[in-house]
Amino acid sequence: MSENLNTLFHVPTSDLNLVMVEMGQAFRTGLNYDDQNIKMIPSYVKELPTGHEVEKVLALDLGNPSLILGGTNFRVLLVSLEGEGKVSSRQAKFAVTEEQKKANGTVLFDFFAAKVHQFILAENIGEIPHSLGFTFSFPVYQTAIDQGYLIHWAKGFENEGVINCDVVQLLQQAFIRKGLDINIVALLNDPVGTLTKHAYRNTKTSIAVILGTGTNAAYVEEISNIKKLKSNESGHMIVNTEWGGFSGSSLPINRFDIALDRSSENPGKQIYEKMISGLYLGELTRLVLVHLADDRGLFHAQVPNSLRKAYSFQTAYMSQIEMDTSDLLLDVSVLLRQKYEIESSFVDRQVVKYVCQLIGMRAAQLAAAGIATLVRKIDQLDDSTVAVDGSLYAHYPGFEGRMRDTLFELLGSDAGNIKIEHATDGSGQGAGILAALHKTI
Ligand code: BGC
Repeated sequence: MSENLNTLFHVPTSDLNLVMVEMGQAFRTGLNYDDQNIKMIPSYVKELPTGHEVEKVLALDLGNPSLILGGTNFRVLLVSLEGEGKVSSRQAKFAVTEEQKKANGTVLFDFFAAKVHQFILAENIGEIPHSLGFTFSFPVYQTAIDQGYLIHWAKGFENEGVINCDVVQLLQQAFIRKGLDINIVALLNDPVGTLTKHAYRNTKTSIAVILGTGTNAAYVEEISNIKKLKSNESGHMIVNTEWGGFSGSSLPINRFDIALDRSSENPGKQIYEKMISGLYLGELTRLVLVHLADDRGLFHAQVPNSLRKAYSFQTAYMSQIEMDTSDLLLDVSVLLRQKYEIESSFVDRQVVKYVCQLIGMRAAQLAAAGIATLVRKIDQLDDSTVAVDGSLYAHYPGFEGRMRDTLFELLGSDAGNIKIEHATDGSGQGAGILAALHKTI
């Protein structure tokens, strides 16, 4: 049983090298042409902060995970840039319900405007900052720092009337309807915010990676290399790679990945993301467990309906299971009983943990292959700082260690020059910093 699964989920170094080659090509093609496998979206952020800026601005953050893996929330922030690399913020968090994720777009944006209003009243802000940065962590075709069109929804959002629309305008109109005198001056995606936020603290940061509900990366590119911009400008710009969309033939896709993709809300899309990120790892684990129960006698071949339910196995359970180092795996036993009323044998529990380890390991290896490809792309093997944020990275036990080991496998001793730093709240505070850099009055 285990040998079989190992063949399905284990990725040898040689295969990871192939992933790197194909991703490297996809990065280059994405910089040359629109609508590619990896979109390489210009962010129009041409200036990174110095860390000395002092300002107070508003920020909104939509599409990023809550502390509980798998959830998505919406935040309103008052961000204070204090200089000397220090940023602080006050914030309010609101869960976006499944119902709201399916409502009409206007209803959704009116909800955001109402929450901004509520925040301003509740926080007793005094003079309300006029400028706002908006982190919108979905694939957006950006055409200016304050203009971008939603390509497709992800993370369970399905609101009508938003795809192909400028999300800045949709939000700006909702502010006007609510009578709020707030100007959206920067639209960004979460890795762009993470890069900006971390650069405020450490100006050497040139790559940011999100490993959370979804996955993505952004990095600093020379404008002359972004051929599709057809610009004569010199200098640099942050590129939002949208690497979650990668789907090359080098990816070690197996029948469980295929089953997950087919029954997902966006079949054929975000394949790399489906092998890596928090929204999907639990579901992949569930598919394997159900197969092992149906065909190989796991859980005495009994599968409770609760486990048959799609997405009922959260990635957070995998974290808890991998964290259980007790001799008899008692936490795993409790989890299976509480969540699924399964009375497990010790062997059942060992198998469950093994499945989590295989899937968690493969995710970390693939994420590391992406990071290694980017570090090579910007030719910074001698010294690079990668800012990483996201609940998977922060809470999944051993994820970072597995990534680091893989970086050494792929880059040899050069991996020792890569500083991976945990970036916190880039999607909120980073939006504030960009609003400060782009404010018009
Ligand atoms: C979205 C990206 C986002 C990433 C991380 C993906 O699902 O496509 O835009 O940056 O999640 O939040």
